[in-house]
Amino acid sequence: MKVPFNQVFYTGEEMEYIKDALARRELTGDGFYTRQVSSLLEKKFGINKVLMTTSGTHALEMAAQLADLKPGDEVIMPSFTFPSTANAVMKQGARPVFAEIKEDTLNIDPLDIERKITGKTRVIIPVHYAGIGCEMDRIMELAKMHGLMVIEDAAQAVNARYKDRYLGTWGDIGCYSFHGTKNYISGEGGAIAINSSNPIIIKKAEIIREKGTNKAQFLRGEVEKYSWVEQGSSYLPSDLLMAFLYAQLNQLEEIKSRRRIIHDYYTEQLKNYLDSGLIRGITTVPGDCDSNYHLFYLLFESEKIRDAVIFKLQRSGISAVIHYIPLHSSTMGRRLGYKAGDLPITEKVSNCLMRLPLYTGMKKEEMEYVVAKLREIFKEL
Ligand SMILES: Cc1ncc(COP(=O)(O)O)c(C=O)c1O
Repeated sequence: MKVPFNQVFYTGEEMEYIKDALARRELTGDGFYTRQVSSLLEKKFGINKVLMTTSGTHALEMAAQLADLKPGDEVIMPSFTFPSTANAVMKQGARPVFAEIKEDTLNIDPLDIERKITGKTRVIIPVHYAGIGCEMDRIMELAKMHGLMVIEDAAQAVNARYKDRYLGTWGDIGCYSFHGTKNYISGEGGAIAINSSNPIIIKKAEIIREKGTNKAQFLRGEVEKYSWVEQGSSYLPSDLLMAFLYAQLNQLEEIKSRRRIIHDYYTEQLKNYLDSGLIRGITTVPGDCDSNYHLFYLLFESEKIRDAVIFKLQRSGISAVIHYIPLHSSTMGRRLGYKAGDLPITEKVSNCLMRLPLYTGMKKEEMEYVVAKLREIFKEL
């Protein structure tokens, strides 16, 4: 049997909505389905304003521009994240300052954020790894105390909560991804959630997203003509993609519960290896978090064991992967002045982490095969 690492899931309604979008002939910016999905996200998660974007990366870029970052400003974020988190702030000339993660959730450690705040710090970007929430109450408190803005990188965290609030709605801004590897997809796509009710920020976000023009105000009849008013780019997705996404978001809970079954099965079957000397960690959802079950990982005792397990799974047709070469020890991170050894927990996690296949349409036989092969491998080690 072959088990891929990830597989695109169709709800079955995508084609119907795409055909409807074609018939409506509103394919460019903020057409019918773009409006549908943004208002669905606003209502479901309780967001003041959602603007759909071409990717999670672009949502982060918009957020960094909205934060009005200047050269010399510092932005605290985990090193254990995707390059887009850091690229966004560097595009504005600001410097990413990498903080440690906690071993239990692999999320940014609020104590290390506190240690890294300087007179130059302007923004904190918590990243909700695996759809499990960072300690947002503590992070918001720190931000308030030091007058900092919070941009949540919730790329992996659509439809997940920390305490009583959805991820992406705690900070000033939240950024979502609908990339083909995520829980809810449009192939490429994203959204920026603006939680502030300040109309100036919302207007500025609309302008940045529309090539630096006030076209959105023009379309609402607020100005007579539209023109270039700010530096911006083109961050609006095609309505065809948003029609596809609408079919996915219509099954927000169904998709989450399908993923939960796989996640819970892995946990149940593998947690007793925790004391075996092979595994020292397993995806754990803390009691104050409601996960969206984006991914499932195991943390091995050593890199050598992890690599051997990946190799043996591969030979059995199962694709399991490592996750995140830390940004601080990557080529670009070294160029920023970081070096291996600067963030020991992050480095150890990155060296010992393996992600198992987890996709919405995963069949029972596939999960059982993965677990059976893992059991065999663990016996041999
Ligand atoms: C934490 C994180 N941030 C940002 C991104 C970028 O999102 P996108 O691929 O939609 O640009 C991703 C996913 O790819 C991610 O996992």
